[in-house]
Amino acid sequence: MTERSDAGVHGLTLAEKASLTSGGDAWHTQAVPAAGIAAVMVADGPHGLRKQTATGGDALALSVSTPATCFPPATGLGSSWNTALIEQVGRAIGREAAAEGVSVVLGPGVNIKRSPLGGRNFEYYSEDPVLAGRAGAAFVRGLQSTGVGASVKHFAVNNQESDRMRVSADVDERTLRELYLPAFEHIVTTEQPATVMAAYNKVNGVYCSQHRWLLTDVLRGEWGFGGLVVSDWGAVVDRVAALSAGLDLEMPPRAGGDAELAAAVARGELAESVLDAAAARVLALVASAPPSVPADLDAHHGLARRAALESAVLLKNDDDVLPLAPDAGSIAVVGEFARSPRYQGGGSSHVLATRVDDALSAIEALAPGRVAFAPGFTLDGRPDPRLVTEAVALAGRAQTVVVFLGLPEHAESEGLDRTGLDLPADQLALLDALAEAHEEIVVVLSNGSPITLAPWQHRVAAILEGWLLGQAGGSAIADLLFGVANPSGKLAESLPVSLRDAPSYLHFPGGDGHVRYGEGIYVGYRYYDTLDVPVAYPFGHGLSYTSFGYSGLRCRRTGPNTVAVTFTVTNTGERAGAEIAQVYVHPIDPGLDRPVHELKAFAKVTLAPGASTTVTLTLDERAFAYWSPGRSCWTVDPGAADIQIGASSRDLRLCERVELDGDAERPGLTADSTLGEWLTAPEGDRLRAALAAAGHAGALGLADGGLPPMPAATPLSRLVSFLPGLTGADIEELIRAARDTGDGSRTGHGHGRRRDRRPA
Ligand code: BGC
Repeated sequence: MTERSDAGVHGLTLAEKASLTSGGDAWHTQAVPAAGIAAVMVADGPHGLRKQTATGGDALALSVSTPATCFPPATGLGSSWNTALIEQVGRAIGREAAAEGVSVVLGPGVNIKRSPLGGRNFEYYSEDPVLAGRAGAAFVRGLQSTGVGASVKHFAVNNQESDRMRVSADVDERTLRELYLPAFEHIVTTEQPATVMAAYNKVNGVYCSQHRWLLTDVLRGEWGFGGLVVSDWGAVVDRVAALSAGLDLEMPPRAGGDAELAAAVARGELAESVLDAAAARVLALVASAPPSVPADLDAHHGLARRAALESAVLLKNDDDVLPLAPDAGSIAVVGEFARSPRYQGGGSSHVLATRVDDALSAIEALAPGRVAFAPGFTLDGRPDPRLVTEAVALAGRAQTVVVFLGLPEHAESEGLDRTGLDLPADQLALLDALAEAHEEIVVVLSNGSPITLAPWQHRVAAILEGWLLGQAGGSAIADLLFGVANPSGKLAESLPVSLRDAPSYLHFPGGDGHVRYGEGIYVGYRYYDTLDVPVAYPFGHGLSYTSFGYSGLRCRRTGPNTVAVTFTVTNTGERAGAEIAQVYVHPIDPGLDRPVHELKAFAKVTLAPGASTTVTLTLDERAFAYWSPGRSCWTVDPGAADIQIGASSRDLRLCERVELDGDAERPGLTADSTLGEWLTAPEGDRLRAALAAAGHAGALGLADGGLPPMPAATPLSRLVSFLPGLTGADIEELIRAARDTGDGSRTGHGHGRRRDRRPA
């Protein structure tokens, strides 16, 4: 029933228009039958469809939903670094949504993993905005190719669950621009998602759902967003303020809300044109309802398995204990998670899987007659010494021990941040006992966010970090353990040695209604690598059963501040495998504090043994820019930067230096520029001469070419306070003299500190 939807809002009554801007129930927009306007359905996301079967007001209770394919949550998918694969997952979820008559899937979630304690980290891709943005864009591309709309969430700075509906994320603009907004910006500017979801929290004191700067100035004004802004469920506090700020649709509806809104318009508190624009965006969404086609759930299970294979990260593999040889004797499989897989997190993203592969059955199928199992612990975490004794006895009789450990589902859920990074105590006790009894232990982990590995990792031979792998994770793990598939995931977040090392440690989760982002831009490897803080495993790390060589780096400037990067990756081992090559930019002598390096591009390449491939990646101007707090804009400094090619952020294989022109427009030197800025600029010598001629060189300590720190840090205009008799007019005269080149031309360009390093 879409015949009215493209006809615009003209002819609708005020009440009808107001009704369009809130839901009809928790999961539908509101129909206007008198005007022939249908309702459309929205449903969670993000790693599978969660279409609640009860569509009443139970948005908090999360009642039963329709079975759907549970793909690896973003914590897994992000570790695949495979955008083509993530696009396929998005497409599959779109097909399942379309088959169920769902118009919008509430995902992807692209918030930055600020703290390893973040309760919804399992729903997010990375600590890095480039990786999160590329992954999220791929998901949206795939999803929207089916006609189903995406809802990119949670906009913005929604990085914790503690006090999530009220807390103010207090964060400076540079940090916002460089870290917390770019993933959204990339997705909006490249994929035009149908909707963006305004988060629960406040940013710098203003609710996101009422944040005009975020929703209108930045999202629509700067990024050109043409879609609909929907509230997170229950995120609207003041609907009039929200619509004025740029929100279009409140979900779920509240009793009497539409009438209040219409009355506010009638009273002149909200311009009717604002309501019209919001209602028109809802109509556009209704008009774009996708055609319903059946989804192939078997094929999607296969895709979920491929996605899981690429999402697991092999952290450690001493003496190549993995892969397990098919004929290598008896295997003790220990750990309840082997038969009761932990494969997703709790809360609104929880999918009722169509089926679930457990690792134990898959291992038994690959090594028939050689596998024995002991649960070792219970899912409720209650210590049971008998289970430990049984597991140790089993391990003692086996050639190889594979232990499945991880976090129970109740430890990782929407609505709750974690309080520590350790595995449950009963699992640690089990591991301790096993390590006493056996030399060669393989650990498989299931956890949505980092756990501490340092206390025990030296006691085990191999660690396969499975994150959360979705419904086919069990069979994927078996394939990886036996080398049926080769691990190819890499860490999308750093694994700290301990919680105290985390940069947000002192500032998470805040209190008294505020969380201060005191670590600023130094999140994840931006902090660990800049300060050389030891980590358990660095960002971008992940092993393979083969090895890769890097060679032939060439960096070619394609413009004043753009570079094409080319290099070769070779599979130097004996098995086919995939490598994730990472491109970092390291600014040389930056004009303000910057991370030692930042990820700017990456490529995942699959290679047969001995095969090579040439990778070409382009770095645009943004790859070299920082957000200038002084100029309030993106800025590229003139000067040098190193292009580093890494197998991880701490395994840099190739490096080449490039020279950048910097921004064409630099602020000119003025009376407000310091003596130091003037004297190191091309105009410096002339100013020095003019000051000497006026008899000020001695008082300023400039004799013999010197420049003492205190005068150097003094703006020219303030010299009137320090040089007796000097007037504002004299300063103007000095500036004129400095700018007068004597050949009729005058200089007017900016701070020249770096100009002398520009390429000729
Ligand atoms: C979550 C959203 C979700 C919505 C609808 C909220 O609690 O924050 O991510 O899409 O509920 O279930």
